[in-house]
Amino acid sequence: NFTPNAFVEEIVAELQEKIKNDKVVLGLSGGVDSTVAAVLLNKAIGENLYCIFVNNGLLRKNEFENVLEQYKGMGLNVKGVDASARFLGELAGIEDPETKRKTIGRVFIEVFDDESHQLEDVKWLAQGTIYPDVIESVSVKGPSATIKSHHNVGGLPDFMKLKVVEPLRMLFKDEVRRVGATLGISPELLGRHPFPGPGLSIRILGDITPEKVRILQEVDSIFIEGLKSHGLYDKVWQAGAILLPVNSVGVMGDERTYEKVVALRAVESTDGMTADWVHLPYEFLMTISNEIINKVKGVNRVVYDISSKPPATIEWE
Ligand code: XMP
Repeated sequence: NFTPNAFVEEIVAELQEKIKNDKVVLGLSGGVDSTVAAVLLNKAIGENLYCIFVNNGLLRKNEFENVLEQYKGMGLNVKGVDASARFLGELAGIEDPETKRKTIGRVFIEVFDDESHQLEDVKWLAQGTIYPDVIESVSVKGPSATIKSHHNVGGLPDFMKLKVVEPLRMLFKDEVRRVGATLGISPELLGRHPFPGPGLSIRILGDITPEKVRILQEVDSIFIEGLKSHGLYDKVWQAGAILLPVNSVGVMGDERTYEKVVALRAVESTDGMTADWVHLPYEFLMTISNEIINKVKGVNRVVYDISSKPPATIEWE
């Protein structure tokens, strides 16, 4: 019988006891787990917690600015690092999904290492690892762009020589959300859909260019905002759009077009291990499809993914 208040009280005391006056660095992702971990640590050790939030250029539209703003409003000591150009530069020309993931993981570590070098006397690395991550530390698709899946890489970066603290490692997701609510984190932030570490890179099939990222951000934003305004966002476990590496013929006025196809995906799930596609209302799909085709230059066709997991996966790559 889990009581969030008691957990917070105990873990804060434990963290203070363990960390004392040491400095701690933590990588924020904008997701629920790293945010709750940061707020807990902030409660325990205040200004000695240094958070780093990296923009890999593959986040949702305006996500970096919006989330950074929210973090500052929560009193976190957070540095936003815009490394978009570096990530997109390193990803240029890469088509293979695993190579994309590995490249993003490597660049993330490089950026994080550079940043933690600038902090003096840091002794601890904090992570938002939760219990299911402990059990299944490497996903079926291979290591994600998190720090934890990389400790067998030779020649450890400096920050990885730090002692690790993981305040949420005994909790399940719903318990993390309840702890977050007790800590006063907004329901909007706590109810966010999961989003993969490699971000939009694994939803752009084939090679990644800044133009493709821009198109997908626009499409994704129309879809997600639409789900919210139609009261559907909280009924869906995860949703997003995929940019396909094919063009299709269309007409606009008297002109023939030959433009990109996007797929929309929305699933119901409890843990991501299995998932069913959501029966979104036809009216909603019609509205969203029209809005995407009318507003996003370069897209002339929208399809809806009606595959469940297994045998399909949630992401297309
Ligand atoms: P799949 O596609 O395997 O996705 O059905 C299951 C859940 O995991 C997320 N996912 C990832 N998350 N790094 C992550 O941090 C990854 O490389 C990765 N691949 C998939 C996916 O978004 C879904 O929530």
